[in-house]
Amino acid sequence: MSHHSFTIRSYGCQMNVYDSERMAELLQACGLVEAADNATADIAILNTCHIREKATEKLYSDIGRIRAAARAEGRRPTVVVAGCVAQAEGEEIRTRAPVDVVVGPQAYHRLPQLLAQAASGDGLVLDTDMPAVAKFVHLPPREARRRASAFLTIQEGCDKFCTFCVVPYTRGAEASRPAADILAEARRLLQAGAVELTLLGQNVNGWVEPTDSSHDFAWLLEEVGALPGLRRLRYTTSHPRDVSDAMIKAHARVEALMPFVHLPVQSGSDRILAAMNRRHTRAQYLDLVARFRAARPDLALSSDFITGFPGETEADFAETLALVEEVGFAQAYSFRYSPRPGTPAADRRDQVPAAIGAERLARLQALLASQQLAFNRAHLGTETDILVEKPGRHPGQWIGKSPWLQSVVVEEPGLAPGRLVRVAITAAGPNSLAGRLVGARAA
Ligand code: SAH
Ligand code: SF4
Ligand code: F3S
Repeated sequence: MSHHSFTIRSYGCQMNVYDSERMAELLQACGLVEAADNATADIAILNTCHIREKATEKLYSDIGRIRAAARAEGRRPTVVVAGCVAQAEGEEIRTRAPVDVVVGPQAYHRLPQLLAQAASGDGLVLDTDMPAVAKFVHLPPREARRRASAFLTIQEGCDKFCTFCVVPYTRGAEASRPAADILAEARRLLQAGAVELTLLGQNVNGWVEPTDSSHDFAWLLEEVGALPGLRRLRYTTSHPRDVSDAMIKAHARVEALMPFVHLPVQSGSDRILAAMNRRHTRAQYLDLVARFRAARPDLALSSDFITGFPGETEADFAETLALVEEVGFAQAYSFRYSPRPGTPAADRRDQVPAAIGAERLARLQALLASQQLAFNRAHLGTETDILVEKPGRHPGQWIGKSPWLQSVVVEEPGLAPGRLVRVAITAAGPNSLAGRLVGARAA
């Protein structure tokens, strides 16, 4: 290969970030090095997201900028479009931007060959095959990079077909990785210094032992939770429909499992939930929340919401606000509905005007923000463990994560990433907390 350096940028979800890490490790295993920035890289990889229009549009403006900056220096880097836009748009990308390689999220293990092909010819090199979870078999084992918290994809794709969503088309059918592979990767990450693992999947709790369905997600939580060196275990994103009783009970049994669950609900209206094909009702969601809290009283929830889904009335939206009031979320992501090409909801004639969707989003976000602040303030004066992740903005400051994923800033020069320390919470704002060290646990 005639290339020497690369950059990778992630535009999407945690699974997209995980894929970027594995692409980087793959290229490093082939002798390439990660460049500090796009300006000097021989290969620019854009690992794209197709979930909302904004995410997709960003790609095209970024390609333009990369090309222009390189041209100014008389260079022509190889531009690789990876990820979910690559899968959804394929060759079409070429009609909008000058790119060299288009590779889908299930085919990136072939990146070295695709780059070699691009270097030897001048046509577009395209690979958007979807061989289920085959990529994992072909990727090199995880790099022994020291990181406190690591992602681990255990399940790919989605069969749920929510009517607004592109994921079933961009990432293909649901497929689980074998438990033996997952546990081997987990051990490697823990040996490399990770103390926290986050299991990933678009329907992470739909995980099932692939060949014979002999084990389910609750079993996997117990297995991973028992690995030596693991201090914290998380998972995301779970679908309400796939939440089992055993999985809820795991929150009472598995000590490493953090008391924080991301459980997207999208809407509080049964009519809209049905139109979205979410396959559960408002009452079923509320029942799950109650059962999680019964299993682990300090458990907090986060969620995803969409406002302005086609046909959503003010009364439907009021039910979403009422659900938020009833549950009380520690944190949440909310979006205005974005019609996506090829999805059933995009073809509906009862689209909600953008201004109404935006106005509802603003009201929802104000409520969610007030709940987040209330949740943060409730920790004032309490003690909690934080996992130190990175230096803060000022010298001597460190930022760590609480069990509920809150960022906690501590003034304590002697800390280091990966340490698990006990702090007293001394201040609470909308997006972060401040803490004072009260003792250290062995990390
Ligand atoms: N698998 C996850 C969601 C993955 S996408 C789940 O089912 O919960 C992350 C979030 O993006 C979704 O939960 C949804 O809130 C939002 N989203 C997906 N498609 C969207 C669209 N067309 N417009 C606006 N938001 C969307
Ligand atoms: Fe998209 Fe629904 Fe699948 Fe989540 S469950 S990835 S929202 S289709
Ligand atoms: Fe985006 Fe693909 Fe993830 S569309 S949200 S990067 S699965």
